[in-house]
Amino acid sequence: MGRFWISCRIALFLLMLMLGASACEQDGTGERVVQQKISPTPSTEVKKAGEAEEKIKIGFSMDTLLEERWLKDRDLFKKEVEALGAEIEIMAASGDDALQISQAETLIDEGVDLLVVVPHNAEAIAAIVHKAHKAGIKVIAYDRLIKNADVDLYVSFDNEKVGELQAKAMTRLVPEGNYVYIGGADTDNNAHLLKKGVFNVLQPFIDSGKITVAYDQWTKDWSPASAEENMMDALEANGGRIDAVIAANDATAAGVIKALEAKGLAGEIPVAGQDAELAGVRSIVEGTQTMTVYKPIKLLTKESAELVVRLAKGGSVETEQKINNGKVEVPAVLLPPVAVDKANIEDTIIADGFHSKKDVYGSEER
Ligand code: BGC
Repeated sequence: MGRFWISCRIALFLLMLMLGASACEQDGTGERVVQQKISPTPSTEVKKAGEAEEKIKIGFSMDTLLEERWLKDRDLFKKEVEALGAEIEIMAASGDDALQISQAETLIDEGVDLLVVVPHNAEAIAAIVHKAHKAGIKVIAYDRLIKNADVDLYVSFDNEKVGELQAKAMTRLVPEGNYVYIGGADTDNNAHLLKKGVFNVLQPFIDSGKITVAYDQWTKDWSPASAEENMMDALEANGGRIDAVIAANDATAAGVIKALEAKGLAGEIPVAGQDAELAGVRSIVEGTQTMTVYKPIKLLTKESAELVVRLAKGGSVETEQKINNGKVEVPAVLLPPVAVDKANIEDTIIADGFHSKKDVYGSEER
């Protein structure tokens, strides 16, 4: 609390006495604006200035906003947090570890009540958890786990299940043959969980000799361009004899499809993705992508906002699951993902308003 706040509170107290209602606001740079409405208080119950209720402030440190899904996360999470009467300050680091750490430090120094983090690098961000805890601030890992740190809570989808849904759909379609696995970013714990899920399903097929994994590679920073290069390598190394591709998300699947297009194979080789991004869903409609996994972001943001605000107010959260992050068993809330292909686009993502029918099919008529 700076001197400004102390004088602001005194002013607030005096105003409350005079008017029974007040507002307190600082602008300066325009970045730290706090408004506080105080309802009229009967004179017998006038609170001391220090007792006036302050708004909870949440800091949200994001890896990036350069992908469709994270814009949804940002907008919906902000809405949900604000609907619960709290404030939120959001910073995004465009995939830069050093920048994400310094942004999170800024949020801690500003005195947020709780820090929510989508880490770019699951390991590098651990230092921030220690720093936040020293300042008495709890840290929630949002969508991606933070490794090797005393994280207070992890809220995400069941990422292992996402991989299982992809591999189940693909093995149903292609029970034998040469598979390519285009993974996510090695630095993102989700990429490891997704891969684990995929191989949980593929392993019996591999053991029986029905499926061969002809190529298996991570994708640096989830970049579609790297995924495209990797898919080119996979095709060249196997003389084009690939029967199915599982890509860790729709963006990497788009890179895969570009490589297939260059070889005249788009639509010939089944491709799985994840996220139900608009471009991915359109590729499913066109037939160049086979399936995606839909994760209702609205549900994730609603659930997270409720838990986060409860924790920020000093409340506690009990979870049924825990996930080991290399240091502790982190209490975890893992929401269920949904497999989507041509047959259930309308019943899932369109019914939920995730994308409109017009955006998916180009018109309301079908
Ligand atoms: C998320 C995916 C996303 C990917 C790339 C993962 O951690 O779970 O939904 O596509 O990061 O941003």
